[in-house]
Amino acid sequence: MRKVSEFLIEHGKPSREVYLDHENSGWVPPEVVNEMLPYFNQKGYGHPSITNRPGWEAYEVLESTLELVGRTLNVSDGELIITHSGTESNNLAIKGAALARTDKERYKIIVSAIEHPSVIFPARTLEEHGFKLVTIPVDNEGFVDPEMLEALIDEKTFMVSIQAVNHEIGTIQNLEELVKIVKERDEKIIFHTDASDAYARIPLDVKKLGIDMMTISSHKIHGPKGVGLLYVDKKIKIKSILDGALSTQRFWPGVENVPALAGFRKAVELAFTDFEKIVERMKVLRDRLIDGIIEKVPDVLLNGPRGEKRAPDNVNVSFLHVEGESITIELSTRGVYVSSGSACTSRVLEPSHVILAIGRRYEEAHGSILFKISRYHTEGDIEYALSQIPPAIQRLRTISPLGREIMEEAVD
Ligand SMILES: Cc1ncc(COP(=O)(O)O)c(C=O)c1O
Repeated sequence: MRKVSEFLIEHGKPSREVYLDHENSGWVPPEVVNEMLPYFNQKGYGHPSITNRPGWEAYEVLESTLELVGRTLNVSDGELIITHSGTESNNLAIKGAALARTDKERYKIIVSAIEHPSVIFPARTLEEHGFKLVTIPVDNEGFVDPEMLEALIDEKTFMVSIQAVNHEIGTIQNLEELVKIVKERDEKIIFHTDASDAYARIPLDVKKLGIDMMTISSHKIHGPKGVGLLYVDKKIKIKSILDGALSTQRFWPGVENVPALAGFRKAVELAFTDFEKIVERMKVLRDRLIDGIIEKVPDVLLNGPRGEKRAPDNVNVSFLHVEGESITIELSTRGVYVSSGSACTSRVLEPSHVILAIGRRYEEAHGSILFKISRYHTEGDIEYALSQIPPAIQRLRTISPLGREIMEEAVD
């Protein structure tokens, strides 16, 4: 059987390309790449733990990156840990806090049903080691019910992990309210939030929100892959889950990815320059894409909320009677790059747990497509995508047995 990769490569590059998959990983702008390049062989190529000149130069990159990110989050010195990805940060937060518990009577962790797998899987690992994992359901737009959260908390609870923004449907949780509920019930419960899809898209002030731990990932904001951060409030105790040495990071052994950190530093700087203006523009493009799809394509469901409670970069729709993976391939031939179902698990042909959790049926979840707007997109990019999506869906519905059946019924 011919591979899809061969098919797409033979098909060649389309005349216009619009990358709308910044959820899974993003395009890295030249300013960011240029910032990284000298750190491979001109300066700072040493080990940041070592006190020779290239080591000090590398160390300076770490320090200045943490200082910059710290300012954007209102974090104090020493509260950010460098890892290599959002996945590593989430693992460190959950397992590291579990290992550091002094009160062994607290063994319950509460996570929302729509967390990223890098939160759900470590929580399941804890379950295998005798912890109790409680999954809190969400409503049909992806919101956690504050009253339900309150009802689930008890004296056994040591941690709650609820993401700031959902990676698939863009739901912005009311973190301030959720943290307040948890802390009013029991100050000792640790509140972790995975902000991989929130950082640099919505304002986040960890002190104001009262968050204890927060995850960030570089490649979600046009930074390079290979950098994650975990904010840990000074009063929270965690233990390292990796053993080793030679790192400036107390909780994450192994050398830091210095060129990637230099790139991430630049990406942060760019993201927070004209932040409000950029976000407002992204919202306009987001709404144009949502409205255009609904107007031009029949049988479409919008997944997630509308308006201010939706992330400025997120569009997620279910195209009924077609299958998500076939949409990604058909749109690829037309130069529109999107992802289907659960972003990080697109090669796993299972319906997204997020789309199922908001009450969609299996078929609806299978036809879900995620589009991510970035600040580099233009109106022209969105109009081009809108010119390609309707014929792509129409073609797939004509050739898919399910789509044909539905269309014949409509004609009858
Ligand atoms: C919400 C969320 N958390 C965590 C991750 C994992 O981050 P990384 O790809 O840096 O491991 C992702 C990745 O897509 C994500 O969307």
